[in-house]
Amino acid sequence: MILVTGSTGTVGRLLVGRLPAELPVRLMARDPSKITGAAATAQKAAGDYSDPQSLAMALEGVRTAFLVTTRVAGDEDAAFVRAARMAGVRRVVKLSAAAVLDERADDLITRWQRASEELLRASGLEWTLLRPRAFMSNCLSWAQSVRSVRTVRALYGTSGNACVDPRDIAEAAVRVLTEEGHAQRAYSLTGPEALTAVGQTQELGRLLGVPLRFEELTPHEARAALMRRYPACVAEALLQSAERQRSGAKAGVDDTVRMLTGRPAGTFRAWAEDHLREFAPAAPHPAAAHRTR
Ligand SMILES: NC(=O)c1ccc[n+]([C@@H]2O[C@H](COP(=O)([O-])OP(=O)(O)OC[C@H]3O[C@@H](n4cnc5c(N)ncnc54)[C@H](OP(=O)(O)O)[C@@H]3O)[C@@H](O)[C@H]2O)c1
Repeated sequence: MILVTGSTGTVGRLLVGRLPAELPVRLMARDPSKITGAAATAQKAAGDYSDPQSLAMALEGVRTAFLVTTRVAGDEDAAFVRAARMAGVRRVVKLSAAAVLDERADDLITRWQRASEELLRASGLEWTLLRPRAFMSNCLSWAQSVRSVRTVRALYGTSGNACVDPRDIAEAAVRVLTEEGHAQRAYSLTGPEALTAVGQTQELGRLLGVPLRFEELTPHEARAALMRRYPACVAEALLQSAERQRSGAKAGVDDTVRMLTGRPAGTFRAWAEDHLREFAPAAPHPAAAHRTR
């Protein structure tokens, strides 16, 4: 049995529909009714990292688990690994982050991911680590201002990031969850090239057929924007991460997606084409168009 945690999230949601229907699969979420796209044969389980009993039930009979945690500096990994050991799980595949390999990365998020990796490695369980660079889907946070004012606002717009299509992360996860030979291995996952926010803005504009404006945020403006979305300590970590990007730390490309999946990593253009409606201004309602004439 394969258990997928985070099955309603960005990567887990994409993984759910990619696992072979003939394999026994259980999908975990706090509210399983929110899980979509699962094979009819997949089991669903309610599980919460803060509820050990729910984890014990979700992990019953599980041999391999996909672990996604999001509470920065929290104890979700420890709770899950403890429950996995008690349930007799053989291997945990953890979604981590590429930054753990950068010795200059010392922000809160990276320290948390490193510590989480370390506790899994010391657990006695078999482990596999997936370490993606930034998800291409992060630029969905620009969608509203692209739709409304045809503008992207971001920090350090000319710095490169070899961001990766989350569908490639999900595909890589399918491989390492379903094949032998991935125990005690770690895989960095990047896209095929380093992209800048300015370049992504131009690509989105080309695909939409409208020119988009790029407005560079100052660090002060970026901090204010991040503080509206995240706790202060996470906002600070994201700013430190952006500084590392500015210094070129995130531009490196590797070939691991091709090595794991047998095909090249997806381009930003392909990702954007498939998500263009998120950025497209809504067509005016016919009645509204009539009224304005
Ligand atoms: N975004 C990036 O650019 C990036 C880059 C590198 C690494 N990462 C790493 O990727 C991970 C996030 O992956 P993602 O974006 O796919 O996740 P996500 O979209 O943020 O979704 C989080 C998932 O975790 C579940 N969850 C939240 N709290 C839970 C709890 N208490 N108990 C059980 N499940 C819980 C949520 O399920 P419900 O709410 O439905 O229960 C949801 O399915 C993080 O570890 C992050 O550091 C992200």
